Amino acid sequence: MSVSEEEVSRIRSLTDIASLISEHTTLKRSGRRLAGKCPFHAEKTPSFSVNVEEGLYYCFGCQASGDAITFVRNIEGLDFVEALEYLASKAGTSLVQTSTESNRSSKERTQLLKTLEDAASYYHETLLNEKEAGKAREYLRSRGYDGDLVRKFRLGFAKDRWNDLVTQLKLTNGLAQASGLGFINKRGSLQDSFRGRIMFPICDSSGHVIAFGGRILPTNKESSNSAQLNEPKYKNSKETTLYSKRRTLYNLHQAKRQIVQSEFTVICEGYTDVIAFDASGVFNSVATCGTAFGEEHLTILSSFTRKLVLAFDADGAGQNAAEKVYEWEKKFELDISVAQLPNGKDPGDLLKSQPTLLKEAVSKSKPYLSFRLDKLFSRANLSTAEGRAKAAALAVSIVNEHPDELVKDQYFVEIAGRCHLEPEQLRKIASTSSSPNPNTDDSQPNRSRPNKSRQSNGQTTKENQLYNAEREVLRQCIQNPAEIADYVDIVLFTTPIYKHVFDCLMSSSNLNEAIELAGEYGANLIHRLSVEETDALPLDAASRLIEGAARRALMRLEQDAKFKSQQDAIILLDEAIALRRAVEDLRNPVSSGKAAKELLAFLVQESLEFGK
Ligand code: UTP
Ligand code: MN
Repeated sequence: MSVSEEEVSRIRSLTDIASLISEHTTLKRSGRRLAGKCPFHAEKTPSFSVNVEEGLYYCFGCQASGDAITFVRNIEGLDFVEALEYLASKAGTSLVQTSTESNRSSKERTQLLKTLEDAASYYHETLLNEKEAGKAREYLRSRGYDGDLVRKFRLGFAKDRWNDLVTQLKLTNGLAQASGLGFINKRGSLQDSFRGRIMFPICDSSGHVIAFGGRILPTNKESSNSAQLNEPKYKNSKETTLYSKRRTLYNLHQAKRQIVQSEFTVICEGYTDVIAFDASGVFNSVATCGTAFGEEHLTILSSFTRKLVLAFDADGAGQNAAEKVYEWEKKFELDISVAQLPNGKDPGDLLKSQPTLLKEAVSKSKPYLSFRLDKLFSRANLSTAEGRAKAAALAVSIVNEHPDELVKDQYFVEIAGRCHLEPEQLRKIASTSSSPNPNTDDSQPNRSRPNKSRQSNGQTTKENQLYNAEREVLRQCIQNPAEIADYVDIVLFTTPIYKHVFDCLMSSSNLNEAIELAGEYGANLIHRLSVEETDALPLDAASRLIEGAARRALMRLEQDAKFKSQQDAIILLDEAIALRRAVEDLRNPVSSGKAAKELLAFLVQESLEFGK
């Protein structure tokens, strides 16, 4: 970056975000915020909100969020530096840039992008026009791809030669290697990375080609050379300065509009799965590129949608990725379901054989838990009492892994019906058996305690309340930092993302710094919290969290006292009595401020003693 941080904050402070955004939408005052229709997506009722003091905006409809700089980047399609120049000139000043090194790297980037773009065009033209690509065209036709589809995804073909691409594009060693398109072979000459492969260009979210996936043609005995037989079906570009597998989603650039409009996205495992969905009218699918679906993909997607439909081959690797589902749902506030694909088929296979099933698989997608139960029951023997009992026991243990008590209960009713049992019976089994896959999230101190407490009735509502209370405290930390500062500490937070955001807020001297520290998802959350209306009082918000934490501490004390000698137990119980009194004081408006501080000090001390 060729602009210093001081220069960025100077431009920011000169910018009036209200008048900037007013050029694109009408803003009206609503409480402490300005609100209007979102300039980034079509809508009838206003869901776009601006916090003028902090210079931040957030859309509750499409989750667009950021500050004046992101606003200009997105609405005018500018890069970071261009956006700063734009804002500078609006403010009647000009941008001061520090040149040298940084300019060189931005030039290199441009050069790399151009090389990859040229390669995509060359591969594409080869596939469309060259005789040598006849087999590739035939193969694609056999998979049900027509010309429009090939053009939409810019599919290409890399000839089966040593150095066709590098010579055609006249690539230098440096550029060939930096772009991942070529490498220096054992004899010291520059060689193409991809040979005899169908090429799938991979783009970043703005549509620049940054890498390729190459699929081998199915071998047939006469034409295959022996080297090919040992080659993997797919070869993907190595990682480069432009391409990080963990952060790239195939087709996101074409799918993003549709993702925002349809409010969900379909996640696939392969390029051909995405293309098959697209060909059958599902335009909001993306795929990972030769790596497992992970948190960085989620972070990127969560700025477009919070609803994911997994379209993984149900029996294959998809199962493993799916293990993380509940954790992700909670941490990223997601709603994850599973597409209903026929057993053993991936979406790519269905295009030719049963294309109508693709759309259906998505529209009939099921919540993850219900998907797992269906699988279990499809294998179970429900014709005998023993078979039904066994299935019910397994099903209960699967349901027990779900964190939400109200959700669980509905599934118990369903399982009871399928197994000819009484729901009450299942609830009983559920509350005595512990979950087979205990959640070992060590950021939640009470989890390491005897885990019965997790399964008591009404836990859900408690968890949700806790969740909302943490959120409210964060909102206050952003909107009324001075008033809440004395009553908060990191020990009060248990939800990982909230804990993280709080940590960022506390270790920064201003909001922009915190936003930078927080990462993409955390930043989005801060933007959102900064515009959310709240009429809660800072002390009340903090008190709710403190009370919850104090009650948990109380339980721990009383539990510990049971295992102590009488003398020690008395000391602990005295402490418990003092705690109870402080909690009562917390509820009394006259004494609440003092009690909050006392309890907080106790909780901080306790967490130090327990080593967290
Ligand atoms: P699959 O083996 O499921 O391929 O790999 P596919 O998507 O069904 O492809 P078709 O339908 O046979 O053409 C899924 C993804 O895993 C990565 C690729 O990114 C591929 O899209 N992969 C697979 C590799 O990186 N290398 C391989 O050898 C195979
Ligand atoms: Mn396939």
